[in-house]
Amino acid sequence: MGEQLIPQLTADGTYTFFSQEFGESYHSHFGARQESFQKFVLPTQLEERAIKPNIRILDICYGLGYNSAAALQTIWNINPNCYVELIALEFNPNVPRAALSYNLYNKWGFASDCVDILAILTALADNFNVQNDNLKASLLIGDARTTIQQVLELGFQADAIFLDPFSPPQCPQLWTIEFLALISRCLHSEGLLATYSCAAAVRTSLLTSGLIIASTPPVGRKTPGTVATHLASERLLKQHNRMSIPELEHLNTRAAIPYRDPLLNDQPQIILKRRQLEQLSSTLEPTSRWRKRWLSN
Ligand SMILES: C[S@@+](CC[C@H](N)C(=O)[O-])C[C@H]1O[C@@H](n2cnc3c(N)ncnc32)[C@H](O)[C@@H]1O
Repeated sequence: MGEQLIPQLTADGTYTFFSQEFGESYHSHFGARQESFQKFVLPTQLEERAIKPNIRILDICYGLGYNSAAALQTIWNINPNCYVELIALEFNPNVPRAALSYNLYNKWGFASDCVDILAILTALADNFNVQNDNLKASLLIGDARTTIQQVLELGFQADAIFLDPFSPPQCPQLWTIEFLALISRCLHSEGLLATYSCAAAVRTSLLTSGLIIASTPPVGRKTPGTVATHLASERLLKQHNRMSIPELEHLNTRAAIPYRDPLLNDQPQIILKRRQLEQLSSTLEPTSRWRKRWLSN
């Protein structure tokens, strides 16, 4: 909570923070703003959806608020009358506040004729709720494993879910089969979930939750992201890349063994250890063999 947040420049000219606690940046160094649009807003097809009268968004790991900002900007540029319901989950309320107090959005480029998104982000960081003619937004502060229960109780069915925790080895508690099962229950039957991760354990857990998945194009780094939807909405994945043979085979290796957190309250080390033990006793192909087969040249 008391972590010092120091802005770091990324390659597209926008800033992110580095987390000492998690040993990771909040965004890819290839470009923080670029990541929000290309890894989250584009794959969830918000441009196409913006013609609808209302859109519901669930932003898991709100952080600096970039993914929500990119979504609001995209939707209202196309349809200023679209009514957006946004629920964002975040553990540390100092992160969105620090982003605003360092003026990190100065590098963002909000259109001057657009709704004042900066004012919305500020109100959300200060009061955790914003309501006006075109928006109802709540920032739920706490462990997302707990706050997701509120989302479920509300019966919130998201058109778009952004899943953006730190990486699975650093923050396994937000990538477990149990947590992802709860998230999939918050996804509308015609909704899309997007994440930057292509980890086999994450993909398997999404599949086990009853979703189907596709790859999103790599942005900056070599690896793709993942987009998921319910089986009945398979057509929504048509414009995404089908998974390649290596990606499909990756799901049959030990890397695909999910992170597990049966009561949704274990410490990260326990979750990591549990998976490591399951991998050791697994009969699945060792991931090193798969890697040698596909990635050695
Ligand atoms: C990779 S950053 C998210 C970046 C963010 N989406 C953005 O656009 O700026 C991960 C975020 O997850 C938050 N976090 C870590 N553990 C959490 C937990 N158990 N529940 C909710 N949020 C958590 C961190 O505080 C951090 O802000």
